[in-house]
Amino acid sequence: MIDVKTTLAAVLGLALAGAGLAALAQPSAGPQTGIVLRNTVTGEPLDTAEGKEGGRDTQAVKTFLQTGKNLYIDDKSCLRNGESLFATSCSGCHGHLAEGKLGPGLNDNYWTYPANTEDTGLFATIWGGANGMMGPHNENLNPDEVLQVIAWIRHLYTGPVADAVWLNDDQKKAYTPYKEGEKIPQDAKGQCKPLEN
Ligand code: HEC
Repeated sequence: MIDVKTTLAAVLGLALAGAGLAALAQPSAGPQTGIVLRNTVTGEPLDTAEGKEGGRDTQAVKTFLQTGKNLYIDDKSCLRNGESLFATSCSGCHGHLAEGKLGPGLNDNYWTYPANTEDTGLFATIWGGANGMMGPHNENLNPDEVLQVIAWIRHLYTGPVADAVWLNDDQKKAYTPYKEGEKIPQDAKGQCKPLEN
């Protein structure tokens, strides 16, 4: 005769064991980000929690980590900051107008790493570095400042608008190539507060 109680317990036990396995298979809890940033050369995952403090709780950084979209593109207040950050951290190697010097030009449509045509790729190159002299910049720029530098690099672009894959259709319509001598007003209003110091 079959013992109903034992059978029931066995079935229940199996169901519980199954549920336990399923629970183990779930990813561990943690901040959920929509995009995965990888080192441009090695493909190693990059962690935006590491590096220079601050600049992690802005709407632009949250939006970027969810969608890969840079809200600072074409925002004059961010271009003002990006210009100054680029002058300090990048222009020595890439040239004042990103025309290229010791490092390659960043203002045309040729990219050693095609991933840099997306703002996620450009972020990863700046954050984690590439080869040789192109070291990681996450110790002197926080994530919000990286987005401002990206906005400035995109602003310096002088190549064909068709190849500017980082621009959406409306931005492509409004696009005018950078002209040397262009001045961003220091009191420009927008999403970015003037840099401290
Ligand atoms: C010490 C010199 C130096 C500094 C400072 C420097 N770079 Fe570079 N950068 C290089 C060199 C050299 C390369 C080429 C490396 C390679 O091909 O892997 C490079 C490559 C790059 C690339 C890849 C370009 C492509 O064609 O795919 C990007 C983007 C870039 N740098 C952005 C920046 C930004 C933004 C900054 C400032 C935050 C910066 N770099 C600061 C030297 C530098």
